[in-house]
Amino acid sequence: IGDGGLVVVSNRQPYSHTYDGDDITVEVHAGGLTAGLDPVMQSVGGTWIAWGDGDADREVVDEDDCVPAPPDDPGYTLCRVWLDEEEVDDYYYGFSNQVLWPICHSALTNVTEWESYWERYKSVNERFVDRVEEHAESGDIVWFQDYHFALAPAIARERVDEDTVLMQFWHIPWPAWDTFRGCPHGEAIIEGLLGNDLLVFHVPRYRDNFLDCVEAALGDATVDHEAGTVTYDGHTTQVTEFPMGVQVDEIAQRAATDEADEFWADFTESYNVADTVAVGVDRLDYSKGIPERLRALEQFWERNPEWQGKLTYVEKGSETRSQIDAYQDIQDRIEAGVERVNDRFGTDDWTPVLSFEEYISKEALASLYRHSDLALISPIRDGMNLVAQEYVAAQIDDDGVLVLSDQAGAGRLLDAAVMVKPQNTGAFADAIEAAVTMPESERRARMHRLREQVSENDLATWTGLNLRAAVALRDGEGSVT
Ligand code: UDP
Ligand code: G6P
Repeated sequence: IGDGGLVVVSNRQPYSHTYDGDDITVEVHAGGLTAGLDPVMQSVGGTWIAWGDGDADREVVDEDDCVPAPPDDPGYTLCRVWLDEEEVDDYYYGFSNQVLWPICHSALTNVTEWESYWERYKSVNERFVDRVEEHAESGDIVWFQDYHFALAPAIARERVDEDTVLMQFWHIPWPAWDTFRGCPHGEAIIEGLLGNDLLVFHVPRYRDNFLDCVEAALGDATVDHEAGTVTYDGHTTQVTEFPMGVQVDEIAQRAATDEADEFWADFTESYNVADTVAVGVDRLDYSKGIPERLRALEQFWERNPEWQGKLTYVEKGSETRSQIDAYQDIQDRIEAGVERVNDRFGTDDWTPVLSFEEYISKEALASLYRHSDLALISPIRDGMNLVAQEYVAAQIDDDGVLVLSDQAGAGRLLDAAVMVKPQNTGAFADAIEAAVTMPESERRARMHRLREQVSENDLATWTGLNLRAAVALRDGEGSVT
C-alpha cells in the first residue's frame, strides 16, 4: 500500500484477554469479520482499533491502550476502545444489533425500539473516530468494518486530511429500498457511509440495493449506477463489490495435520458417529436458518427410514449476542429442535443430532469439515457465509457435498453447490437425500469446481482488490473497479 499505513476499525476485536482465575488467557470470538481481517492484518501490518471487551484487556495494554497482536506472534498493533455498560447496551446490543442487523437481514419483526439507542450509536462512532485521529497519518488507508460504524466515515471526513483514504467493507447484506425505508435515521446512516471514498459490499445485488436507497433517500445525491459512484455534498464515493474469501491453502494444510487426525479419531470414538456425517457450523443467530435445517433433517429421516442410524448431523454452534431476546429465543428453539429430533429417532447406539458449543482449534474445525460427507448451510439471509467456503477449502479428498441456501452471498460464488431454500422443508429434505446418494463422480466433479471457485477468490485476492482500489483512489489513478 505504498508509503501509507493501514488502520482497520471494527467493533469486534480479534483477541480478547480474559481472566481465568488469576491467570490471563486469550480468547477468540466466532465471526467472519475477525476470522478474515486477522490474517489480513498479520500479512499487511498496521493498527487495528476495536472495542476492548475482555475483562483483562486493560491489564495488558501500553499507555496508548494498545497491545501487539496476535499475542504469540505479533504482526500488527491492536488498540482498544473502552465502552461503558450503557454504551454497550445502546450502541452494540441496541442500534447495531437490534436495528441495523435485523433491517439489513430483512428481519423487520426483530427490530425493537430504537430512539433510546441512537444517541449512543452516534457518540460511540465519534469516539472511534477520535482514536482514528490519534493513529492515522496523511496518506494512510482507514478501513472501517461493518454496520457498527455507519456514521464514522462522514465524521472522519471532516477531521482527516484529503490524502487519507476512508473506505468501508459492509459484511452483511444491504436490503432493497422497500425494506431499508423502515430504518430509523436511514438518511443519516446513508449520509454517514457517503463519507467514505470507497464503500464495498460482497455481491452486486447489495451494491445495487445501496445505490437505489441513496437515490430514494437523498434527493440531492447524484448516482451513477453504471460507474457505481455517488456524488453528495461535494464528495464522490466509489461503490463496488468484492466478495470476501477464505485462506484456502492454510485451511487445506490444517485439515491434513496430525492434530486434525487426532481430533477426528477422538471425536468419532467419543460420540459413536454414523458412517455418513453432515456438518453445520454457525453462530447461533436467527439469520442462519438452524431450526429450518433441523426440520428438513427430520423430514429426511421420516421419509428415508433406511438412513436412520446411518447419518449423524453435527452442529458446531457458538453462542452469540445472548442478551438480546431474539437470540435467547432462537437458542431455545434450536435446543428444542435438537431434542425433538433426537427423541423421535435416537436409539441406544445412535444420536441423530450431535450439538456442541465448546471452542475447537482451527485444526479440529478443518478436520470436522474434511471428514463430513456433506455440509448443511441454510441461512435465511447472510451477507456471505464464510463457513461454506471453509468447508470447500477443507475438502482435500474432493468428495464432500455442499448443500447451500440461495439466500447467502456465497451462493453467487459457489454455483456447483446443491441449492436450497431453507424454509422449503420438503425440497430441503430432497436435497439432503440427493446429497447422501449422489454418485461419486458427480460429487467429485461438483467439489472440483467449488474448489476452483474458492481458490480463485481467496482471502488474499479479496485483500488485494480492496487495498489496490484504495491506493488507486489515493494516488489519483481514476476508476478503481
Ligand atoms: N466459527 C467458529 N466457531 C463456531 C462458529 C463459527 O470458529 O462455532 C467461525 C467460522 O469458522 C467462520 C466464522 O466463524 O470463520 C463465521 O463466519 P460466517 O461468515 O460464516 O458467519 P458470521 O458468523 O460472520 O455471520
Ligand atoms: C458478523 C458481523 C460481524 C461480527 C460477527 C460476530 O460476521 O458481520 O461484524 O463481528 O458477526 O458477531 P459479534 O456481535 O459477536 O461481533
